[in-house]
Amino acid sequence: MDISNSVGKSNVLSKRGLRIMNDSSILEIGMLKCQTNGYSDANPSGVINAGTAENTISNDIIAEKLSQVKSPYLDDPDILKYKDFTGITTFKNTLCSFLTKYANAHEQLNPDNLVILNGCGSCIAALTIVLCDPGDAWLIPTPYYNAINTDSNRLPLVNLVHVDLTSQESQETGQPFQLTVDKLEDALDQATVKGINIRGLFIMNPHNPLGDIYSKQLMKECLQFAKRHKLHVIMDEIYMLSMFDEETKFTSVLSLDDLPDPDMTHFIWGFSKDFSMSGLRCGAIYSWNKQVVAALGGVAYWFAVPTAMQFTLDRMLSDEEWVGQTYLPTNRKRLRDSYDVMSKGLTKLGIPHLVRSAGLYIWADFREFVSPLTFEAELEMFYELIDAGVYIPAGQCFYCQEPGWFRIIFALPNHIQQLVLQRIDKVISKRRKFNLRCPVGDGENK
Ligand SMILES: Cc1ncc(COP(=O)(O)O)c(C=O)c1O
Repeated sequence: MDISNSVGKSNVLSKRGLRIMNDSSILEIGMLKCQTNGYSDANPSGVINAGTAENTISNDIIAEKLSQVKSPYLDDPDILKYKDFTGITTFKNTLCSFLTKYANAHEQLNPDNLVILNGCGSCIAALTIVLCDPGDAWLIPTPYYNAINTDSNRLPLVNLVHVDLTSQESQETGQPFQLTVDKLEDALDQATVKGINIRGLFIMNPHNPLGDIYSKQLMKECLQFAKRHKLHVIMDEIYMLSMFDEETKFTSVLSLDDLPDPDMTHFIWGFSKDFSMSGLRCGAIYSWNKQVVAALGGVAYWFAVPTAMQFTLDRMLSDEEWVGQTYLPTNRKRLRDSYDVMSKGLTKLGIPHLVRSAGLYIWADFREFVSPLTFEAELEMFYELIDAGVYIPAGQCFYCQEPGWFRIIFALPNHIQQLVLQRIDKVISKRRKFNLRCPVGDGENK
């Protein structure tokens, strides 16, 4: 348990409090810069946030809908009372119907298996609390969305054991950073030798930050691996509907009719990404395991979604025509268009990147510009980009094992994307010039 690793002493805080206070990441530094000196019409030289995974291109449609659906419930005295902290019945029913339809579930989802909490981060923390003991660990492929660390470690005191993926292209798929069951087996073996108690496997599909979509085959192999080793699987599908290519097939874990071990498989989804509502805080866990659902009920009090918000979201989702005919297709088209702008812009700047069709971000290869190719130099470039007015997190924020990769959010209005590209261009042009003056191999450069 990491609690003994608290840095320093405090007369005010507990060891845990001190540890939490000292636990900050580069992502938080970038976000702080955007908060204290953020770009706006009034502050055009401020830092643009192209680092936080938020969809700001569909806010207008959501805002319009919310203005129609919110108010009638706020003056209802019933809203003022305590309710089932795992979610009110009507919203559970609606969310189950919604997920059944859009995850293409192989059977109608059962509201008794659903727990609604205030965001997927809380879902991860709550699941970690009820499935792991302090000091246990999740197995997770790198790179990964780094707040999983915060969610599983800050309060639950559970660690993450990395399954390191490399940029070397897979022979099978021709793509970098590909997960295989052999890599999972190796990482599990090594952890076991070190005496680490692995409780389960954490998978994001679609993946953050890679934008990868797992094939049905690979997903099944991962689930079978977990079953062989009696491990839980948390399947985080928070970007399930942020897919913007009709051709690409997505298989939700909910759609499998032959789940290897339903009792150990837990699905997560939320409104933050697919409905551009990261500030409203709502996510859900679907678990087939009655004990898990009961235990989650015991912690839900701390993570509950305010009843007024549940009513509001319930009314929004209940307008099936708006969801299916207006919001989702419009959002998908806007994501597609924004992705194209950023992807083409990066190509024009000579920055290779993964070509994907899901998520809100692009995983880009800046290795040519990081010199020497080290994590220190990568961090320098991160700060240089911030000084140039754009926050894009470096690969080390995602525990990428190779320096030189950055994640860029593309779900931004077009004029902001253009500025992001211009500011990136400014930094890389300077670096290119520098590299040209110092021939390759002179010790300072690649
Ligand atoms: C893969 C993944 N899971 C969970 C979360 C947390 O989402 P929420 O806002 O619902 O807490 C995020 C947010 O970036 C994410 O990318």
